[in-house]
Amino acid sequence: MIKFGVMGAGNIATKFSEALRGIGGNLYAIASRDLNKSKAYQNTYGFEKAYGSYEDMLIDPFVDCVYIATPHGLHFEHMMLALKYHKHILCEKAFTLNEGQAKIVINEANSKNLFVMEALWTRFLPTMIEIKQLISQGIIGDITKIEANFCFQATRDDESRLFAPHLGGGALLDVGIYPLTLANLFLGTPHRIESKSDLYHTGVDLSNEITLYYDQAVAHLKSSLGYNLPIEGFIYGTKGYIHIPMFIGAERAFIFDNHQKLIKEIENKHIVNGMEYEILEVINCLENNQKESSLMPRHETLNILRQMDDIKKQWH
Ligand SMILES: NC(=O)c1ccc[n+]([C@@H]2O[C@H](COP(=O)([O-])OP(=O)(O)OC[C@H]3O[C@@H](n4cnc5c(N)ncnc54)[C@H](OP(=O)(O)O)[C@@H]3O)[C@@H](O)[C@H]2O)c1
Repeated sequence: MIKFGVMGAGNIATKFSEALRGIGGNLYAIASRDLNKSKAYQNTYGFEKAYGSYEDMLIDPFVDCVYIATPHGLHFEHMMLALKYHKHILCEKAFTLNEGQAKIVINEANSKNLFVMEALWTRFLPTMIEIKQLISQGIIGDITKIEANFCFQATRDDESRLFAPHLGGGALLDVGIYPLTLANLFLGTPHRIESKSDLYHTGVDLSNEITLYYDQAVAHLKSSLGYNLPIEGFIYGTKGYIHIPMFIGAERAFIFDNHQKLIKEIENKHIVNGMEYEILEVINCLENNQKESSLMPRHETLNILRQMDDIKKQWH
């Protein structure tokens, strides 16, 4: 069974550990910069090993795949370290701060024949996969517009990973990546992007609005750390539309015709908390000796980062 090592004992590591335990996976090792913290995780989730430094865990030859759960400003450094020790990698979103860093990581993984994948959990959800199938069968006709928002009011702490530039702060990299992913999943790469942002005093974006232009469609996206909006996505087509409440971790979606009549409801309850699907994909790829997932191909990680680079350039 694939032995996972978790790097960084923070919030998302908790969800990951719950999901891995829930599917009967191998919680092999947890590493924190603080041994007391990793020992507490070990007690709670039943990890076999607890380490007080990331490198100590990477030296362990029994770790097959490292789940990187540190702030995104550190993902590049931590992925390069894991590759040095010949580990497969599942890395939290945003994969890196920009496309240039991601290319270096992917080239390094390729040269060592190692698996590396971005943990963009939305892409692996059964509800998302079902929506994609239904759209390809024509349930709402041709897509004309996508609207998606991920906005919430975060506690303003200039030193936190959300607001500190060196940790990769800002709404776009933390939450804006989700609406951007939704649009790219269903419409592909836009031919033009327009964006504006409100910058926070640390220099990161507090909020942003993005418009993606396609030949026959448009996407309007919002993300923010400064205000609340319902987290939801809408996909409009020539024959109807789909409403996806809480699209980032969607269990349900509602499909309407052009007369606002509900014609279909989709529901796929999570087995644990929704993160299990990306974990199952990693296990499946590694057990079948695949270095890349078709649900989260590397070129899509690069594509989204390229668009985010373009967006940031527009804000100067
Ligand atoms: N998929 C999702 O739904 C989802 C949700 C939330 C976050 N995320 C992603 O997961 C990553 C971590 O987010 P999080 O919310 O878990 O953050 P967090 O609670 O702040 O945890 C990050 C962990 O990184 C480690 N770390 C190493 N160097 C650090 C430094 N210089 N400053 C702060 N922490 C440092 C710390 O672990 P130790 O002290 O144990 O070493 C810390 O607990 C981010 O990339 C984020 O985008 C994904």
